[in-house]
This record gives sequence, C-alpha cells and structure tokens, in this order.
Amino acid sequence: MKLDVSSTPLSHFEVDLIAIPVFEGRLDEPGRFQEIDQSLNGRLTRLAELEGFEGKSEQLLVYNPDGKLGASRVMLYGMGPRAEFTPPDARLLGVAAIKAGRGCKAKTLGIAMPRAAKSKVDAVLEGIGCGVTLGEYSFDEFKSETKPSELEEVIVNSKELAGPRQRTARARLEWGATVGAATNRARDLVNGPANDVTPERLAKEAREIAKKHGLKVKIRNRAECEKLGMGLYLAVAQGASREPRFIHLQYEPAGKPVRTVALVGKGVTFDSGGLSIKPAKAMEEMKCDMAGGAAVISAMAAIAAAKPPVRVHAVCAATENMPSGDAYRPGDIFKGMSGRTVEVLNTDAEGRLTLADAIHFVNQEGVDEILEMSTLTGACIVALGKYTMAAMSKHEDMVKRVLSAAETAGEDMWRLPLVPRIAKELKSEIADCKNIGGGYGGAISAGHFLLPFAGDTPFVHLDIAGPAFGDGPWGVNPKGGTGIPVQTLVQYVTRTLPEKFGKKK
Ligand code: BES
Ligand code: MN
Ligand code: ZN
Repeated sequence: MKLDVSSTPLSHFEVDLIAIPVFEGRLDEPGRFQEIDQSLNGRLTRLAELEGFEGKSEQLLVYNPDGKLGASRVMLYGMGPRAEFTPPDARLLGVAAIKAGRGCKAKTLGIAMPRAAKSKVDAVLEGIGCGVTLGEYSFDEFKSETKPSELEEVIVNSKELAGPRQRTARARLEWGATVGAATNRARDLVNGPANDVTPERLAKEAREIAKKHGLKVKIRNRAECEKLGMGLYLAVAQGASREPRFIHLQYEPAGKPVRTVALVGKGVTFDSGGLSIKPAKAMEEMKCDMAGGAAVISAMAAIAAAKPPVRVHAVCAATENMPSGDAYRPGDIFKGMSGRTVEVLNTDAEGRLTLADAIHFVNQEGVDEILEMSTLTGACIVALGKYTMAAMSKHEDMVKRVLSAAETAGEDMWRLPLVPRIAKELKSEIADCKNIGGGYGGAISAGHFLLPFAGDTPFVHLDIAGPAFGDGPWGVNPKGGTGIPVQTLVQYVTRTLPEKFGKKK
C-alpha cells in the first residue's frame, strides 16, 4: 500500500472513496465538509440531518455522489468534540477509512486531513499513517482462504500540503506506518497460537529483526541461563518440554548514547497456571501471556528504523508455564540470579518469577532505567478494566515520562499506587519473600514483588493484562492481540528520552 499526499480541491479529487472527518456539531462551519457539500448543493447536509449524523465520535455515513464529484464515494466520519481531539485520534479516522474502503473494494482511498493547529499537523499525519496501517491488519495465517486487500494507495488531502510540504508530509505518514507495522507485528505474535508461537519462535522473530536492522542479538538456552543462576525463570520453565529462550536484543546508536534504557517484556508463551492450574475458561486466552515480550521485540524494529541517540536493551525471558512431573510445586523455594530466594506458593504467579531474573539481568548490564511490561495480573483488569494499562513505580520522573509518552501515543495508561503495606504481605517466614500476597490489590502486590530486582535503578512496571488482548474490537484495535504498548515504547525511546536527555546544557 502506497501512502501519498495531495492538495487537489476535494471536489476534483479522484479516488474510489474519500473519507471526510467531521467534528461534532460542526457541520455548518467552513471546512472540509462544507467544501465538498457546496459542490453537491447541500445534499450532504440534508442527508446528515435525515440520518442523524452529527459528527459524534466514530459515527459513520457513506454517500454516493453519483458522478458529481471526482470521488466515487464519500464517507463522513465523526471525530467527536473538537476540543477533545488529540493527534493519536487521527488513527481512528485512518482505521475507519480503511474498513469502509475494504467494504467497497476501493483501490484508491482519499482521506481529508482534519483541521489541526500548525504545531500538530505532523503528529496528525503520523496518526493517519499509523491508523491506515493498523486498519489493514487481519490475522489470517491459519485461514485456508484469505481475502487480500485490494487497496493500492491512500492519499491524504490537504490544501496546506502543497509544494515543499509534500515531502515532509509523506515522511510523517511513512513514520506512522512504521509504528503501525511494528504494532501489527506484535499483534501477529500475540494472536499466534501457543503451539506456533513458542519461545523458539519469539527468538526467531528477534533474530530476524536483528538481522534486518543490524542489532546485536543473543539467545540463551536453558543451560546458559542455569550458568547465570536464573533459578526463578528456570523454575517456571522446568515443567515445560518446550525449551525456554532468554532473548536479548540490543540497539546501539551511532554516536555516544544520551541514555541507556532496558525494555523487559513477559514472555510466557502459554500460561496454564502450572500445578496451580487455571480453570478451562481462564486458560482460553493464555496464549496472550507473551504480549509484553512481543511488544518489546516488535518495537525494536521501529526503534532501529528511527535511529534515536539512545542505547536500548530489549529482553524477554520466554517460556511456557505447564504442569508436568517435572513442574515446580507450590511450596518450592528457588534462588534467582540476584541471590534473593522466593517461596512459590502459587505456580500461576509465574510471570513475576520470569521477570525477576530478566530485570536483574538487565540491571547488571548497566542501564540508566528499566521499563518492564507484562500481562501480569487478572487483578489489574478488575482495577482498571480492559482498555487501560497500569503503571507502577517509585521513580516520579521516570513514571511521569512514561505516562506522557503513552498519552502522546494514544494508549491509555493510569498509575496505581505502590501502597507500602501491601509489600509486607509478600514476606515469607522461610525465604526472602513469597510469590503471592494477601489477595487484595493483586496488581500492586505483583508490582511490589518486582521492585527489589531492579535495585536502585529507576524502574517502571506496566501491567498490560487488560488491553493486550481484546474480547472484541475497540478503538483502533481488532479483537484479540492489540500490540499494546508498542506505540508507547516507540514514542518513549525515539522522542521522550532524546528530548529529555539529548540536549546539551
Ligand atoms: N497471566 C496471568 C494474568 C492474566 C490474567 C493475564 C488474565 C491476562 C488475562 C498471570 O500469570 C496470573 O495467572 N496471575 C494470577 C496471579 C495470582 C495467582 C496471584 C492472577 O491474576 O490470578
Ligand atoms: Mn499465571
Ligand atoms: Zn501469566
């Protein structure tokens, strides 16, 4: 699919479908809608009235201009209130335009640029480029019959994007598409069933990205992790017949790095619960338990393409969590790479064990900060719902940066407090700690469990159990894997960190 820009007057813009964004209650204002409605002698206004189209968020109306426009079809898309519009919302317009374009088998799709302040034009273009790429996503690897997209070209229309602005505008669209593609890559890994997306498959993905983008990659097997003393990670892996893979990707900037960051993602390719086995219903979705790992691996593709002045380690301790004769048992005690011992009382609280060693490992590498993400607790879904990820941290500066990156990227993130009393519930009488707490505040308890493994290094934990995998389509996301939080990661590493640490004082 080609991405382009055009400044042709809307009425003469020859495409199979033109998508027109309309802000709520603003149909009568001069703008893209009025421009096109005038060439139709006010027909669109009358139709909108008849159909109750007011530009409410995600409202849709398709119209056949019957040869009176360059475009064969017009689609009105509700953007909601203008005061609430932010650039990542432009992704919704992109997704909706693609869906409608698919529906009418369009080969060329036009999208009228929503009105935005000059300072936001680039970000809106990125949003559209990202949105159309996300909209093209479908998971059909395992379908015998697939319907390939017929879309050949998406053209963003704006009078302001003429002359020298065209080239930069195209670059913004392309960058959005790069971020969208990284998200789609993560979605594929999350949607892939656990008999296909195994630890070795995640390793293969990492090797591929490393090869394509010139990243360092090191994959460690069970014996190598044993040598490093990763007893907590290997405790989870000991019941699985599929071999664990400790995946480590590294991006090195050309010059001296302004910051070194570690991205750590949970990579449990299937979470049966182990001997503390899950009920059947709760196990259905547990192929998604490597969504954090999929995000860090996939984000590296976009990060490497952007070439930020930041050194990035991406780590995923991949394994299955299975019950078997060799599986770890409730009551077992293990020592991880940090030397800390853990009494395992529930083998379904496995993610934190794998992460403990991964976090300690990256800390040993000498990093300035650690950003970790995991489908860690059902409790987090209870707390924040299916659409919001949680951020937990004791490092104010860092967590604020991460929250702001998420907001800019358009991925919903909310901070949960690390209530000190909940930490006490992890105390064990016979080991340094237990792997489960008192039951209430489970997301916070899991956050507390991870903290000591990061030492004094600024550390943010993201619980993505809710938004990583959807029961149905929502926002820019299809049902199933969403690729969250790839867009936040890319924003954080390629923009937030360079802006904060890149400037010389
Ligand atoms: N992978 C699950 C958490 C999860 C639940 C992710 C639902 C996505 C959707 C995690 O390993 C888990 O089983 N957590 C337990 C922790 C408990 C045993 C302390 C949970 O949430 O029940
Ligand atoms: Mn579990
Ligand atoms: Zn899990």
